[in-house]
Amino acid sequence: MQEKPTTVAAYAAGASLAAVALFYVFGPNYTIDGDESNDSNRKKSIVGLSNLANDCFINSVLQALAGLGDLRVYLIHELHRRQLDGPDTYQTVASDDELSAGQTDKLRELQQGITTRALKEMLDRLNERPIYKKTISARDFIQALEYAFRTRISRNQQDAQEFLQIVLERLCDEYHAGVRARKRALGSAASAEGSSQESSSEVEVRIDDGSVHGLPAIIDTKLKEIDQESGFPFEGKMESQIECQFCHYQYKPNQTAFVNLTLQVPQKSSTTLGSCFDGLLKTEYIEDFRCDRCSLQHAVDVKSKELARVRSQGDRDRLEKELTRLREAIETDPEAELEGITFPPSESVPKRRIARHMRITAFPKVIAIHLSRSIFDRSSSSKNAAKVSFPERLPLGGLLTQKWYKLLAIVCHKGSHHSGHYESFRRNHIYPPFSTPGAFSSYAQSRTASQSPSTAPSPRIIPRSSPDPDTLSPATSSTSPSGSVPQLTPVRPTTASSRHSVSTKTSSPSETPSAPRGSRSIPRPDVPGVSSRLRRRRKPIDRWWRISDEKIKECKTSDVLGMQREVYLLFYELEKVE
Ligand SMILES: *[C@@H]1O[C@H](CO)[C@@H](O)[C@H](O)[C@H]1NC(C)=O
Ligand SMILES: *[C@@H]1O[C@H](CO)[C@@H](O)[C@H](O)[C@H]1NC(C)=O
Ligand SMILES: *[C@@H]1O[C@H](CO)[C@@H](O)[C@H](O)[C@H]1NC(C)=O
Repeated sequence: MQEKPTTVAAYAAGASLAAVALFYVFGPNYTIDGDESNDSNRKKSIVGLSNLANDCFINSVLQALAGLGDLRVYLIHELHRRQLDGPDTYQTVASDDELSAGQTDKLRELQQGITTRALKEMLDRLNERPIYKKTISARDFIQALEYAFRTRISRNQQDAQEFLQIVLERLCDEYHAGVRARKRALGSAASAEGSSQESSSEVEVRIDDGSVHGLPAIIDTKLKEIDQESGFPFEGKMESQIECQFCHYQYKPNQTAFVNLTLQVPQKSSTTLGSCFDGLLKTEYIEDFRCDRCSLQHAVDVKSKELARVRSQGDRDRLEKELTRLREAIETDPEAELEGITFPPSESVPKRRIARHMRITAFPKVIAIHLSRSIFDRSSSSKNAAKVSFPERLPLGGLLTQKWYKLLAIVCHKGSHHSGHYESFRRNHIYPPFSTPGAFSSYAQSRTASQSPSTAPSPRIIPRSSPDPDTLSPATSSTSPSGSVPQLTPVRPTTASSRHSVSTKTSSPSETPSAPRGSRSIPRPDVPGVSSRLRRRRKPIDRWWRISDEKIKECKTSDVLGMQREVYLLFYELEKVE
């Protein structure tokens, strides 16, 4: 067994840190990329899931989710933050909403994040690195989900995409309910500001890495009050816009949020993921559309002719008023309802050809893609077995907004539309920390900023390399209204003594028996060292797990990319900009 010096990894998820500012992980058995040791401890497998009753559609999705690092970071942040806020924040349901008792319970459960918690526990267990073959059951998670929806998960439908969608939508709803509850609590706590500032900002937590007691880690929570919500990692936004090809009026864009993308697979023998995206994002032309602006113009034309015909002054006045309003609407807002004007019969309105554009306006951290392979005939449905080639790195967005995504997991389906088997592939990696250099500077600065108890929103984007105090949030320069706020020594993260100052303030809950006191004194490597080491090591890891319920095999990227006929769900993660 190795007794190497502890690897200290600083975890920090970029500028969007939730309550968790920084993790210090002290993990003697935990290496950053997992391939340093060649001893008997080398992780040979991962945990499988038992399939008792046609559960492979559940198992395959859970295994894929277990391989998504941004999801796990989100779950850790979210639950930790809820723990810090305390149960009261999420227990209280807004009294201004008129809800029945049942609705109140459901809203409370959303706020409390019961599915979020259950999923974290499930994914933690799936991320254990067992030395011997290990199979667990998804039962606990399924029970939590069934409780949340007050319904049984049907084993008959067996659709992995439907299951994924239920889980993601629920998690997203729980996230937003939690955000609202936090905002409300913040509002009511604003008057009592200051009293809660006394408590220590560091807590010790356990990161479940599969060992009996978990990885001891310290989380700094001082940033809570200037914190911003980090968002649900699967949530993105799409915008659709209609343009009339006749008058070129562009409708106000519609924005919709999404947690998954369904792409239709064209009925060909082979195609690419890119062409499937084209089906969603390419401009679509629609005939016979009644354009609002053209309708107004039509009304103007009709009424102008009428005006030339009518005799009575009353009719002239009315028509002139209507025409003024119509022309104004054309100029200002053709989509608005116009009251009190009689329009020409809608059949007489000319029909136009329109172009509909769809684009992604907010890119999620993790994109879940569903390839719809159903072919519906009049009487039956069948499966489209087209080969869909997909890349390891996926570019999305236009030239100016291009984002790169990296493939982390897929779910495959073998068999017919009505029966078959799901299995999944997930990348075999242990998650590296994220964009550490930026995180450290923002950590130090936010830390200074947090001396002020002001809850005024602070700018979150802090220039990476600029420790210039003038660039700090306005909160720093305002004087603290409360003298009782403990003045923290601004931490300069590059010195070893700062590590010490962090540990001395650590409140150490007693339920951390295996955290050797000695580990506290392990000096934190200086930051440039950590970051350059991480960068150097970040080579693509060409190892994957192929998972079919309890059966697990190792395989390579080329094996994964070869699953063109079977691929059904794909999970890509936004690449971190270095
Ligand atoms: C790891 O151990 C195996 C078996 O003990 C050995 O065959 C292999 O060469 C070792 N690999 C490295 C990189 O040391
Ligand atoms: C926006 O949504 C509304 C209501 O769902 C719909 O009627 C309209 O056509 C949509 N517009 C676009 C540009 O998609
Ligand atoms: C998400 O999945 C559902 C169910 O398959 C689908 O109806 C919906 O269109 C998908 N969302 C998007 C934005 O494609």
